[in-house]
Amino acid sequence: MNKKEMASSLITTTSTALFSFLILYLAVSFNNIAAKHRHSTTTKHHTHHRNDTGASNPRLEQAYHALQAWKRVIYSDPFNTTSDWTGPSVCSYTGVYCAPFPNDTDIITVAGIDLNHADIAGFLPKEIGLLSDLALIHLNSNRFCGILPQTLSNLSLLYELDLSNNRFVGPFPSVVLSLPNLKYLDLRYNEFEGAMPPELFNKSLDAIFINNNRLTSVIPSNLGLSTASVVVFANNNLGGCIPPSISNFANTMEELLLINTNISGCLPPEVGFLYKLRVLDVSSNKLVGEIPYSIAGLAHLEQLNIGHNMMSGVVPSGVCELPNLANFTFSYNFFFEEEGVCGNLTSRGMVSDDRRNCLLEKPLQRSKKECDAVLEHPVDCFEHPCGEHKHAENHPKMHRT
Ligand SMILES: *[C@@H]1O[C@H](CO)[C@@H](O)[C@H](O)[C@H]1NC(C)=O
Ligand SMILES: *[C@@H]1O[C@H](CO)[C@@H](O)[C@H](O)[C@H]1NC(C)=O
Ligand SMILES: *[C@@H]1O[C@H](CO)[C@@H](O)[C@H](O)[C@H]1NC(C)=O
Ligand SMILES: *[C@@H]1O[C@H](CO)[C@@H](O)[C@H](O)[C@H]1NC(C)=O
Ligand SMILES: *[C@@H]1O[C@H](CO)[C@@H](O)[C@H](O)[C@H]1NC(C)=O
Ligand SMILES: *[C@@H]1O[C@H](CO)[C@@H](O)[C@H](O)[C@H]1NC(C)=O
Ligand SMILES: *[C@@H]1O[C@H](CO)[C@@H](O)[C@H](O)[C@H]1NC(C)=O
Ligand SMILES: *[C@@H]1O[C@H](CO)[C@@H](O)[C@H](O)[C@H]1NC(C)=O
Repeated sequence: MNKKEMASSLITTTSTALFSFLILYLAVSFNNIAAKHRHSTTTKHHTHHRNDTGASNPRLEQAYHALQAWKRVIYSDPFNTTSDWTGPSVCSYTGVYCAPFPNDTDIITVAGIDLNHADIAGFLPKEIGLLSDLALIHLNSNRFCGILPQTLSNLSLLYELDLSNNRFVGPFPSVVLSLPNLKYLDLRYNEFEGAMPPELFNKSLDAIFINNNRLTSVIPSNLGLSTASVVVFANNNLGGCIPPSISNFANTMEELLLINTNISGCLPPEVGFLYKLRVLDVSSNKLVGEIPYSIAGLAHLEQLNIGHNMMSGVVPSGVCELPNLANFTFSYNFFFEEEGVCGNLTSRGMVSDDRRNCLLEKPLQRSKKECDAVLEHPVDCFEHPCGEHKHAENHPKMHRT
């Protein structure tokens, strides 16, 4: 899969509720713009009801300076998206959306920037802080590079920040943590590296997409009470194990995607506390141990993928009988028994994949030799939830008396 296909396949798994909300939100903004235009046509032809040029509106004048500064650091614009970014009428620039200022609807201001798929190369200048009334920034699929300017913290109304599929670099951009109204943060497909700040999970965000970066830290164990319903960590080298504090997402989380994040240890039973989960995908990691029985309590679960790990034991019937489960993938592990209905999920109309396990009676399984090597050393998830049995002597738990 190429980058684009990956991005779109991950997009399709995200909450449809969220996206309908975004569309509604945009519709409201566009409605405001449309209302303004409707109004102008009823007044006088060629005359705007509100003079939306910089000269008479300091907010638009400020926006003009910001957008001109931005245009100066655009080095490639293959579709000529910003070629009309000239003159003081910023509201007519391609990709720039104006709306009445929330607290004073007589003032028109720049409320949104949408340059999705413009393939622009350049960076974000510090003057972007002058666009202080922005509610939305969508820069998906461009070639913006460098780091995010600190002045971004001036955007106190910013609600959605989508910087996905660009070339931003540097440590996790902690400036986003200072945005008081941010709800939707999409940083996927960039080159952010290093630790994820624990504060990220303390913010009242609805969706966090940080997949496909170079983030390396383990998942913070001091997760605060998070409000996110969608968290996609996939394709980062996080390492470590899933902390039991993952249960702090319980009241909101509907999708948890930890695909290919180099996580190890056992799946903590606390994952089963995320009672709103619809999608759980921890595939392509180094998870060991059994499926915690608490998963059988996830009544809303529709998609469960634990494939490509080193898990073993019995696939419990409670999980296979989940009322909404439609697709259960547990291939490429070391399970040696499918309890009850788990042996024939097609009979329940479910999509499933049990290949490459140690299921004696099933086709396409691992060899006895391969299975014996792993099954001779069962992991005790109760004693060693982080799977550190091999180095138990170094673990603080061993010093308990
Ligand atoms: C807006 O105001 C400026 C300065 O007062 C003026 O030059 C310009 O013509 C006005 N534009 C419109 C469309 O009224
Ligand atoms: C962009 O503008 C340049 C110069 O005016 C022109 O040569 C080119 O064909 C334009 N590209 C597109 C995609 O319109
Ligand atoms: C808008 O008005 C509210 C209530 O008066 C105030 O708390 C808020 O700070 C104002 N926002 C801006 C951006 O001025
Ligand atoms: C922040 O926004 C305010 C209000 O729009 C503006 O006056 C100020 O210059 C901005 N600061 C920066 C650093 O852009
Ligand atoms: C998260 O928020 C809680 C409660 O407000 C606070 O006690 C904790 O220190 C915060 N953690 C981080 C990492 O900011
Ligand atoms: C995976 O994470 C572990 C820490 O849990 C780390 O030691 C190891 O180097 C990581 N693997 C790779 C390929 O980076
Ligand atoms: C079932 O899930 C697997 C793993 O996530 C996926 O590859 C497959 O396309 C899914 N099948 C259907 C029919 O949704
Ligand atoms: C699974 O169940 C279906 C329908 O009940 C049946 O047709 C099929 O033969 C069963 N498959 C196996 C492997 O038992």
